[in-house]
Amino acid sequence: MSDPHRELVERGYDRVAERYLATKDPEDPLALSALEDLSQNLQPGAKVLDLGCGAGVPTTLQLTRRGFVVTGVDVSERQLELVRKLVPEATFLKADMTELDFGPNAFDAVVAFHSIIHVPREEHPALLGKIHRWLGPGGLFLATLAMTDFDGEDGDWEGWGAPMRWSHYDAETNKTMLREAGFDVLYAGPRTGGGTGDSEETWLWVLARKGLLR
Ligand SMILES: C[S@@+](CC[C@H](N)C(=O)[O-])C[C@H]1O[C@@H](n2cnc3c(N)ncnc32)[C@H](O)[C@@H]1O
Repeated sequence: MSDPHRELVERGYDRVAERYLATKDPEDPLALSALEDLSQNLQPGAKVLDLGCGAGVPTTLQLTRRGFVVTGVDVSERQLELVRKLVPEATFLKADMTELDFGPNAFDAVVAFHSIIHVPREEHPALLGKIHRWLGPGGLFLATLAMTDFDGEDGDWEGWGAPMRWSHYDAETNKTMLREAGFDVLYAGPRTGGGTGDSEETWLWVLARKGLLR
């Protein structure tokens, strides 16, 4: 990731971490439903990577409650301070997800809620390829990706006093990129629920599987 983009996102989340956490519901129905889809296909003790885990609510928290061995990754130190307190059972790494390398078959599942949308979109195909490689045969990828094409900044996100940057393609391109990375897409469709502001947000909720032979 180019440094100005990464630094803007990292510093932005360092500044808004508490305010962002205050918008999160540990029992968020959309997240719980998707995590249930994942859990039904995993054994207790399965290794799960949470990319852009933030403060861990609800995803990292719910994954550990379900008995999975969770590794959370985030680029923001403040987010990591919060998640280490809220989800002490998990292991955390401060890293840019595009620069990680775990080697093949490292995880049974990878989740990425509302985080890949902050990575420069020209790097999305390579990142999806890495996620595919890190998964074992039959491994699952659960994510919220974007419905729309956008690459730009908001100078004062939600009026919280920090700039933020997003970079993503539309739903059809996201589905194509998943298939080109080698995934079987189990579902990829819009779902609407509570967002960070007053309005509801619609995201492309994706569950994809790495084939047994790839
Ligand atoms: C909108 S928050 C989502 C947090 C959490 N997954 C959730 O759904 O509440 C996005 C998170 O992704 C992290 N992030 C953004 N770009 C990243 C990158 N390149 N590598 C690692 N983390 C990143 C941010 O620091 C932030 O904590």
